[in-house]
Amino acid sequence: MPVTRIATILRDGQPGTTITAKGWVRTRRDSKNGFSFIELNDGSCMKNLQVVVESTVPGYEQAIKDVTTGASVAIEGTVKDSPGKGQRIELHASSLTILGTADPATYPLQKKGHSFEFLREIAHLRARTNTFGAVARVRNCISWSIHNFFQQRGFLYLNTPIITTSDCEGAGEMFQVTTLDLAMLAKKQIDQIDWKFDFFAKPASLTVSGQLEAETYATAVGDCYTFGPTFRAENSNTTRHLAEFWMVEPEMPFYELPDNMDLAEAFIKTMVNDVLAKCGDDMEFFNERIDKTVLAKLENIRTKDFIRLPYTDAIEIITKSGKKFDYQVQWGSDLQTEHERFLTEEHFGQPVILYNYPRTLKPFYMRCNEDGKTVRAMDVLVPGVGEIIGGSQREERLDVLIQRMHECHLNPEDYWWYVDLRKYGTVPHSGFGLGLERAVLLITGMTNIRDVIPFPRTPGHADF
Ligand code: 4AD
Ligand code: MG
Repeated sequence: MPVTRIATILRDGQPGTTITAKGWVRTRRDSKNGFSFIELNDGSCMKNLQVVVESTVPGYEQAIKDVTTGASVAIEGTVKDSPGKGQRIELHASSLTILGTADPATYPLQKKGHSFEFLREIAHLRARTNTFGAVARVRNCISWSIHNFFQQRGFLYLNTPIITTSDCEGAGEMFQVTTLDLAMLAKKQIDQIDWKFDFFAKPASLTVSGQLEAETYATAVGDCYTFGPTFRAENSNTTRHLAEFWMVEPEMPFYELPDNMDLAEAFIKTMVNDVLAKCGDDMEFFNERIDKTVLAKLENIRTKDFIRLPYTDAIEIITKSGKKFDYQVQWGSDLQTEHERFLTEEHFGQPVILYNYPRTLKPFYMRCNEDGKTVRAMDVLVPGVGEIIGGSQREERLDVLIQRMHECHLNPEDYWWYVDLRKYGTVPHSGFGLGLERAVLLITGMTNIRDVIPFPRTPGHADF
């Protein structure tokens, strides 16, 4: 008999039908009256399937002692109305098969209520807990929503390279990719590397962004997006930074900055709407157990217009607020998470799109404004997270781009193919990048980015 997933059983299961369920035991209780209750979970939803196993089931005595937390079982039986509270139906077993035992003496998830810190040490098992199962399902839903949003608008899904020889953000925070034997070079005391002996015959790295390559396609096939893993060797040990994260980057020809903002706002609202529509039980769980304000916060995001504020005005609001910050700011300073969160959480109480940043703070590719001081950058700030999206209108004028590259100490020859786009049929265009994990933080109310990606990579940690 084919396996029916527990989400399907709980939703559609009809009393009187015979089914097989397979999954992992969450708990077992034995009644004095000769039967046992099993709470069975298969990860398809938050809720467990309640299974009743009478002692008359063949092999009961032998099998039931192995039905412990974490064990995997297959149960065939009949669906019945449940007299108990909390569930519509339950499964009455006619057979019980142990697929794999889980020794109660060593199984780490024997008890509930472990700290997130402890669960990070058993990242290979933590998806079996309520929280991490729910995070996985919401993350999946957001990924689906991202593709759906862009596909419905006719965007082309593009796979940009993971190994690259250009630094998109120009911040020098790249992981080098090499086949050179570093230990051997050290042993031979070689201090000058001859790149022709390396795999690509030149230095190569893992990508920090697919944007530059996406621009080449946007100016050929039109609206497109990349969605893939991104790597940054920045030594930021914060609850918002990973060394390996997933980023979705749409790139649109003929879009100017306000069009870019409209798209970003519609995009975030759609993700929130989709998760609320598809992950109701998981979201109720987050609202109850993780952040009691998360549903109210999402309602606010879903229904209200985002604030659009020039950087210059933001600096004025921050400096006039009278609030004590760890870092003081003035015009020209980079905003810290504390300032971003003050704006979006306290001052406005809703998402804020900050734009027109000082050119000295932003990468070479952003379009310069006529004031000579600012660029058409935009950062979307959201409560609980701070920056969730970074983007801009791109510099499409060849001479200005070259000048900006020099200003940023980049050699235009290294970016010759990117420069070519401005020589041949250049057009105004724009795009942005959204960090998937930051979106998961926003929507679930989880507070540490290490807990919203299956296997987090941070400075000093690549443990699985
Ligand atoms: O603001 P960023 O650096 O922008 C870019 O990379 C542009 N090339 C995007 C574009 O215009 N196509 O990064 C974009 C987003 C940030 O807003 C944040 O959500 C996420 O990527 N991000 C990180 N997420 C987790 N860990 C990190 N270390 C991150 N760095 C950036
Ligand atoms: Mg940014």
